[in-house]
Amino acid sequence: MRIVLVYAVVAGAWILASDILSREMTVNPNLLTAVAIAKGALFVVVTSALLFVQIRGDLAHLQVSGDRLRESEHRFRRVIDLSPVPMTTSDASGNVTLTNEAFVKVLGYSREDIPTVSEWYSAAFPDPEYRRGITYAWDRESERSRQTGDAFAPLEAKVRCKDGTERTMLVSSASLGAASSERVVAFFDITEREQAEEAILRSNERLEQVLRSVIALIGKVIEARDPYTQGHEEGVARISRLIAEEMGLPADEVDGIEVAGLVHDVGKLGVPAEILTKPGKLTDAEYALIKEHSQRGHDILRDIDFDWPVAGIVLQHHERMDGSGYPDGLLGDEISMAARILMAADVIEAMAAHRPYRPALGLDAAMAEIAEHPEKYDPRVVSACVRLHEAGRIEV
Ligand SMILES: [Fe+2]
Ligand SMILES: [Fe+2]
Repeated sequence: MRIVLVYAVVAGAWILASDILSREMTVNPNLLTAVAIAKGALFVVVTSALLFVQIRGDLAHLQVSGDRLRESEHRFRRVIDLSPVPMTTSDASGNVTLTNEAFVKVLGYSREDIPTVSEWYSAAFPDPEYRRGITYAWDRESERSRQTGDAFAPLEAKVRCKDGTERTMLVSSASLGAASSERVVAFFDITEREQAEEAILRSNERLEQVLRSVIALIGKVIEARDPYTQGHEEGVARISRLIAEEMGLPADEVDGIEVAGLVHDVGKLGVPAEILTKPGKLTDAEYALIKEHSQRGHDILRDIDFDWPVAGIVLQHHERMDGSGYPDGLLGDEISMAARILMAADVIEAMAAHRPYRPALGLDAAMAEIAEHPEKYDPRVVSACVRLHEAGRIEV
């Protein structure tokens, strides 16, 4: 309202004054000159005043922006400094511009120790070849992150601390924003985690070793009850492993087949020793009792928490592809590949190995038994056996 009143008064005065001046100027030419000079001077004064006000406003604004920027940078550095994660910042020229407290505490280097990125690299990765590898991986990931706009995928690195110890770190990097040429690098210490993982791995290896020793011991116990077949379990395990490897089965399956080989006749523990060691011909009833060892073996092993289906393989190790085996007379695909391998290895070892009550029949005879009965054995297993035999790799 006040602005409207001021406008009305000023505009009214201006119109009145200009009308009076116009009338006066028509009768007095000197007045025309004076008015022109006054108008020019007034214009200069008014525009100068306006410019002054405008520039003063801009300067004040610039000062506020500068203060805000400095404060924001200060806050940012404070956040980095207080972070429990070791961090450094560096500029585009490769100067280290900041090392936070956690960095100094964990890695030992202050900014004075590593004024440039290349000096930091030399200290942290003293082995030149390792340093080259890290530099290459770092540059490649930086380029990928820059081009795709994706976050930097942390790199794992063994970092040498100032005191000479080595720590395993996940190292990540990020730009400090579009307006800044600085980058921040963060270090996540995974040394303890890695050590814990290694300890678990070592403990697992020890457990596996113990398990294998126990399995081998079971094999020895079985053989102790039947001295005529000494070394049979180990021999079958060895040949089974060879066949499985020759067939290109995965390493884990090969291990399972070997373990099953080591204990495949564990069910014989339930057969009276006098039948197992009887020198003459067995009666039908005695033979039927021996044939129970597959099922007995399965029943003994099924509650053991193996990583492999050992009990199932043992149950099927006397089955035959044409259904003529025992205990279930399974046919072809009903028999697992592991059992098909084990049944061949069992026959090869049993026939080729020396027995106290008879001379060894020999590997050739054992191979012939398998090759001449293609209906009983898996053709891929037979071919693998033939290849191994021809290469002289089967030993009994
Ligand atoms: Fe057997
Ligand atoms: Fe056997």
